[in-house]
Amino acid sequence: LREILVVGASGFVGRAIQDHVLADGDSSRFTFTYRTTPGAIHSGLDRIRLDLLDPASAAQAAGAPVVLWVAGNGDHGLAARDPARDLALTAVSLLALLSRIGGSLCMLSSAATYFGLTGPVDEEVDHVSPIPYGAAKQAAETYARWHRAAGRLAALRIYRLMYAFGPGELPRRLVARCAAAARGGEPLRLVGGGRSFLNPLPVSFVAGALVQTALDLAAGRAGPEAVNLNHPDRWTVMDVVHFLRTVAEFPCEVIEGGEEWPVTFWGSTDRMVAELAARGESFPEVEAALRRCFETMIEETTR
Ligand SMILES: NC(=O)c1ccc[n+]([C@@H]2O[C@H](COP(=O)([O-])OP(=O)(O)OC[C@H]3O[C@@H](n4cnc5c(N)ncnc54)[C@H](OP(=O)(O)O)[C@@H]3O)[C@@H](O)[C@H]2O)c1
Repeated sequence: LREILVVGASGFVGRAIQDHVLADGDSSRFTFTYRTTPGAIHSGLDRIRLDLLDPASAAQAAGAPVVLWVAGNGDHGLAARDPARDLALTAVSLLALLSRIGGSLCMLSSAATYFGLTGPVDEEVDHVSPIPYGAAKQAAETYARWHRAAGRLAALRIYRLMYAFGPGELPRRLVARCAAAARGGEPLRLVGGGRSFLNPLPVSFVAGALVQTALDLAAGRAGPEAVNLNHPDRWTVMDVVHFLRTVAEFPCEVIEGGEEWPVTFWGSTDRMVAELAARGESFPEVEAALRRCFETMIEETTR
């Protein structure tokens, strides 16, 4: 294994990490994992097969000095339909990793841990998520913190992400659904009046933050254990849809009510702002990134 092991590198965020590392020219320091599809890892990158729920395969992760975890279940619906499977993918698989590593861990968790709260939420809030998806993320975080407190991890960073968008996102995601509607597919159907907060970030920005943290951990720099990862500007689902309709028109049906898990909160961004400022960086401009992503998605599937 190389110095930094990216677990879940074949997924949506993982592929953005591959792109970032390839563009940055630091690829010799990274190993990337896939579970089912070797082709999901760029041929120019070091790759291994890793299935954390298979003990023989999980042993492959042993001794990795720095791990960047972007695996786990990302589907809220699956968590409600099959909470045991969600818990296995998110928490049991992380435990399988934690039991085999002793270096540093940067894990991508979710702001779904804040479900039930309203308004800005800071990282140290004392709260239990009432939905299965958030509960499994919280369990995974708790096990990671326990390993860190017991000295079994050298350092830990938990990022709580609200929403990443970008080319390659799944068809069920918002921008992809808007692009499908703009191409003449099903009209977009928005429940809950589209009032849920997204405060979205381009997946390329998320990947950059994760890679920077992995490099910091490799250099012995840790910083706060938990950091919210969302744009400081408040963007609801409807705000995103309104903006995208100025780029290319598409039919949209807005339904009041009917949203099972309304997002009434967003992460406060003081910690992330401070980290970016220390590097002379700032949050990206959402509109330009949304426009690029939307136009690319419309083009790709009309070609
Ligand atoms: N995307 C977002 O906006 C967002 C927001 C908040 C939090 N998150 C969290 O961030 C993480 C990554 O998100 P994503 O959108 O990139 O998800 P994703 O596309 O579903 O990627 C998940 C990755 O985990 C791998 N994986 C699944 N089971 C595994 C196992 N047993 N052993 C090793 N690897 C396994 C998958 O490999 P296979 O494809 O081969 O199964 C895939 O590479 C998820 O935990 C998600 O909940 C994402």
